[in-house]
Amino acid sequence: MHLSLLLMLALPYLDKTSCSPLLERAPDLDTSGFQLPTISNSLGGSAICVSGLVALNVSTNVNTELDLPMDVSQTQAVDLVLGLNTANSTLATSVSKNSPDVVDQTFNIGAQLCYPVSQQNQTTIQFLTHGIAFSKTYWDFALPNNSYIETAAKAGRATFSYDRLGIGNSSHPDPVQVVQSGIQVVIAEQLVRLLRQGRLAHRKFSHVIGVGHSYGSLITTSVAASSPATFDAVVATGFSTNRTGGNQFTSALNLQPANLFAPRRFQNLPSSYLVPSTKYGIQYSFFRAPNFEQSVLNKSFDTVETTTLGETFTRSAFATKAANFAGPVLIANGGRDLDFCDGDCSYPNDISAATLKTFFPNANNRSSTSYNLPDSGHGMNLAMNAPLAFDKIQEFISSLEF
Ligand SMILES: *[C@@H]1O[C@H](CO)[C@@H](O)[C@H](O)[C@H]1NC(C)=O
Ligand SMILES: *[C@@H]1O[C@H](CO)[C@@H](O)[C@H](O)[C@H]1NC(C)=O
Ligand SMILES: *[C@@H]1O[C@H](CO)[C@@H](O)[C@H](O)[C@H]1NC(C)=O
Ligand SMILES: *[C@@H]1O[C@H](CO)[C@@H](O)[C@H](O)[C@H]1NC(C)=O
Ligand SMILES: *[C@@H]1O[C@H](CO)[C@@H](O)[C@H](O)[C@H]1NC(C)=O
Ligand SMILES: *[C@@H]1O[C@H](CO)[C@@H](O)[C@H](O)[C@H]1NC(C)=O
Ligand SMILES: *[C@@H]1O[C@H](CO)[C@@H](O)[C@H](O)[C@H]1NC(C)=O
Ligand SMILES: *[C@@H]1O[C@H](CO)[C@@H](O)[C@H](O)[C@H]1NC(C)=O
Repeated sequence: MHLSLLLMLALPYLDKTSCSPLLERAPDLDTSGFQLPTISNSLGGSAICVSGLVALNVSTNVNTELDLPMDVSQTQAVDLVLGLNTANSTLATSVSKNSPDVVDQTFNIGAQLCYPVSQQNQTTIQFLTHGIAFSKTYWDFALPNNSYIETAAKAGRATFSYDRLGIGNSSHPDPVQVVQSGIQVVIAEQLVRLLRQGRLAHRKFSHVIGVGHSYGSLITTSVAASSPATFDAVVATGFSTNRTGGNQFTSALNLQPANLFAPRRFQNLPSSYLVPSTKYGIQYSFFRAPNFEQSVLNKSFDTVETTTLGETFTRSAFATKAANFAGPVLIANGGRDLDFCDGDCSYPNDISAATLKTFFPNANNRSSTSYNLPDSGHGMNLAMNAPLAFDKIQEFISSLEF
């Protein structure tokens, strides 16, 4: 075989930091269920991961037919978001038609299954759902210090992360009628089912911990509400029931049609795929100075991801309470989260603690708890002191009795 081809084949199995080969067994990782599989390491090299596309047949009527165009002008995009943010807005209900919106399609979901390099026999998996403006790379972002997956692997734990429908390597269907909040909940449930049934990498995970960030926490907690047996425990980050800061957060994102704003990355998308448009808007919404590295903000902007008009107009599809979820729950927020704490999670009381009680009234109260990461904005994983929060989360998971 030609030397360069050999090198190419060997490359994915080399540790990025030391360039030393990883465990012998790494190349044997089972990739079944993944199309176009690749093997890579987490930042820092503690996890070895299978990435690829997972095909899902999705047949559901949870979506709402919306009277909105698939292609909007820049003026329309701005005014629609503004219209939603207006006091006592009726815009979302007025564009919702009462006819059923049936989706029956096959989607590819970009996904990554990671194990500690030293041992790949875990039976518990953490199911990671990212939020707006990011892809699944939110969980392994920029620096080892900011990698949730790296921390989990160091604690001996396996993770599954995926790109939401419409994001990253996942399919990008109709951004109004298909990519809505409701279908994201259905997709999360289906992916967990595959993990429990052993249909990914031939591994049957007997316990699944749902871990979300922001919009991904809305998805995670909605799964816990509609289908409580899906998760054995829940970790909701960048999440509360207090939406006072939501409008300020959204306006700082300054959403624009992605194909106009960043044609190099998004030229083929219909213009109702929207994207945050300024770096300092992302700083305002996700970070608190001086508690972040400039390179992490830069990367957040350089790899910024889309949301859709469909997702934006169907937030009411998310649950307002998970009354039947009886497992352990951790609510963890950046203490200065803008989106879900209006910039201060301790004002007027501990918003994270209050959210645990109101959103999860029947959570197992022996292990359930809440945590605020000092001086961190909404993008908790991206703060310089994120390792404190990661340790708190792994400590919570260690306390679970399974
Ligand atoms: C999806 O449907 C196709 C065609 O009916 C079938 O061949 C395939 O196995 C299904 N995939 C999954 C993941 O169920
Ligand atoms: C909100 O708007 C509706 C009609 O658009 C109106 O009937 C209602 O009184 C308004 N509520 C408040 C609190 O102003
Ligand atoms: C995985 O393997 C290690 C080392 O062989 C063993 O100690 C551990 O109990 C195994 N874990 C499971 C969940 O089987
Ligand atoms: C999509 O897949 C490509 C090729 O495997 C990979 O380089 C890229 O990082 C993936 N994107 C995301 C968002 O994971
Ligand atoms: C949300 O937090 C704000 C302070 O930022 C407070 O004024 C308001 O009462 C809180 N709302 C709820 C519903 O807790
Ligand atoms: C961040 O990006 C700015 C320009 O966009 C550049 O000047 C600066 O050097 C970058 N900083 C780092 C640490 O990458
Ligand atoms: C925990 O739950 C039990 C049963 O629902 C209840 O009796 C008890 O008061 C709760 N304890 C705390 C600290 O909330
Ligand atoms: C982050 O990583 C750097 C070096 O990679 C290290 O010096 C620093 O202590 C880490 N920060 C935290 C909070 O662990």
